Amino acid sequence: MAILDKHAILEKNVTLLAIFAFLVVTIGGIVQIAPLFWLENTIEDVEGMRPYSPLELAGRDIYVREGCYVCHSQMVRPMRDEVERYGHYSLAAESKYDHPFQWGSKRTGPDLARVGGRYSDAWHVDHLRNPQAVVPESVMPKYGFLEERMIDGEHIGDLLRTHSLVGVPYTDEMIENARADFNAQIDPDGDTEGLLSRYPKAQVRNFDSRPGISETDALIAYLQMLGTLVDFSTFTPVASR
Ligand code: HEC
Repeated sequence: MAILDKHAILEKNVTLLAIFAFLVVTIGGIVQIAPLFWLENTIEDVEGMRPYSPLELAGRDIYVREGCYVCHSQMVRPMRDEVERYGHYSLAAESKYDHPFQWGSKRTGPDLARVGGRYSDAWHVDHLRNPQAVVPESVMPKYGFLEERMIDGEHIGDLLRTHSLVGVPYTDEMIENARADFNAQIDPDGDTEGLLSRYPKAQVRNFDSRPGISETDALIAYLQMLGTLVDFSTFTPVASR
């Protein structure tokens, strides 16, 4: 009881209260922030993670530009209801090449961290064009106009270079071949050997099944890749980290 009574001293002295409040916030802050200075050891390396292919990266840019993150998160929390609905909880490594990250906390629509492979490309085309045609009660806006917007990858090398500036390990070879890889991913009949050696598991096809590369192609390439890089049938978390 005696020690609790001393609290009255703090409550009656504004300066002292400020000093103690500052101390408490400082300690809490250090506990949260300090580990991030040793990020190297806080993000465990996970097999399968690779930087985005040029087409996926272009799609990611469109995702950010259109504000999809306003309604969609990309982080499966480690709780049972989440894991049963979306799949394995997200790993730190899965977003380590994301600048800016897309974790989010607002879910007007479902989490998209593991949406890759859940639907066909045709489903995505229909859904982006008119979400209500697929899910009648949907409040998602229509994004059909993306199909009309063609992209040629003219600046895709610069985009990769920019990401390498903030730490994504794009090699000179990847940057040099960015435009070729960008075009190769949409052409199943072309030469995809280089693309697949640089970006294993990159999915090669004409995503919107229309000629040319549209923003819809890039966006679907990105969506179909989400959550597919790590093979969770062989992944065992390292508990000691
Ligand atoms: C106004 C909020 C809103 C915005 C903005 C929005 N969505 Fe959605 N989205 C939803 C809702 C609600 C659903 C669930 C109903 C449905 O499937 O349409 C959904 C569903 C989805 C699904 C299906 C997910 C699943 O697991 O069933 C995908 C994929 C998707 N959105 C992609 C996108 C993309 C890409 C963008 C940006 C171009 C976007 N959304 C923008 C609200 C939104």
